[in-house]
Amino acid sequence: MASKLGIAAAVVVIGGLPLVDDVLEGRSPGTWDFVIAALVMALAVQTVRAVLAMARSREHARQRARHNVEVLGAVHALNTDPSDPGVMATLAEHVAHALRADLAAAMVVDEEDPGYIRSIASYRAPEGFDERRWPADHGLSGRVIATGEPLLVGDYAEVIRKPMPMPDGFVPKGAMGAPMRWGGEVRAALVVVSSDERRRFTEEDLKILSRMAALGSLAMEHAEMRAQLQRTLRVGAYALIAAVNARDEYTAEHSENVVELASSVGRRLGVGDEQRMRLEAAARLHDVGKLAIPDAILSKPGPLDEEEWAIMRRHPDIGADLLQHVPGLAELSPIVRAEHERWDGQGYPRGLAGEQIPIEARIVFACDAFHAMTSDRPYRAALPVEEAIAELRANSGTQFDPQVVDALLAIVGDPGGSPSGRRVPAVRAA
Ligand SMILES: [Fe+2]
Repeated sequence: MASKLGIAAAVVVIGGLPLVDDVLEGRSPGTWDFVIAALVMALAVQTVRAVLAMARSREHARQRARHNVEVLGAVHALNTDPSDPGVMATLAEHVAHALRADLAAAMVVDEEDPGYIRSIASYRAPEGFDERRWPADHGLSGRVIATGEPLLVGDYAEVIRKPMPMPDGFVPKGAMGAPMRWGGEVRAALVVVSSDERRRFTEEDLKILSRMAALGSLAMEHAEMRAQLQRTLRVGAYALIAAVNARDEYTAEHSENVVELASSVGRRLGVGDEQRMRLEAAARLHDVGKLAIPDAILSKPGPLDEEEWAIMRRHPDIGADLLQHVPGLAELSPIVRAEHERWDGQGYPRGLAGEQIPIEARIVFACDAFHAMTSDRPYRAALPVEEAIAELRANSGTQFDPQVVDALLAIVGDPGGSPSGRRVPAVRAA
């Protein structure tokens, strides 16, 4: 510093209250400054205070950042698929990290017996914790669920008379719980426990826990609504299926066999669970449009003429239009509309080709054709399975998606193909 200023050294004299003479004398030769000791001390104390305050606020900011990261993690997990049971486990883990707790658990009132509580998810709980249940007055969670109020305790063992099991050698100290509500009732509690005596949970921590519990409540509410919606949809789908069944016995039985076959093909092609549910529903309802086809055409004991075919070919559009207006079944509409489209673009009603056709529709199309070929119809007897297989193979790549044909042949037991294939009894019986 001194050399930058162009001098050899800087001499600063620190002393008591100086006299004018001292200052004048002190400045020569080469004294840089004369500082009063009392002022130095005051400045030093002030500086130390400022540094401490900054450190505290940095730590606070770090803590808040950690909370935010964990809350964001939890929100992300809950947004991914709130109906997934793993989501609550993720929430428990984020809660434990955010609050620097050693254990976390989401305890829920047992649906079958409200006198009991059990864990839906836990983090670092003892082994077997999630498989057991306890009377509803146990643990901190029992009390939080009973009162519906968040609770903060300084010493778990002292306050909780009927404690929950802890991991071996784990002595619980501070603990907190926050209620979770959905369907208009307190249904669960989110609880964290610490074994570190120095880690005292605060009112602010309790607020964070309550916020995380509110997120969990939303997820559970969402999951329950989805389950309810799915039940409603099933009822809607069954009503339509019943209408199809009442109309035409062949279509009803045929659809069930197509469902079974399509589901197996979907599984073989690696179609995911949710998409397979859609595939099965589409397979079950693929011919729902036939409700609008006159009996004279639908049950004609002979080949259809051109005009009758033109009417018959309208059934995918009729079915798709119908499904579009049934809440929850609208997503099946594009599949049902495309169930007679061909891989080479020569199908109907739109002439879609290749992967323009939804995979579910390509699967239903091939399974539908295979099953129709091996069933007795009013206008012809069933083909032997071997002939139907030969027909599928001959039309692979033109009428049908080759990948779908390969999977289907492997399942129905192509005699010249996959040794792992098996014959589907329903095909033989139809
Ligand atoms: Fe059809």
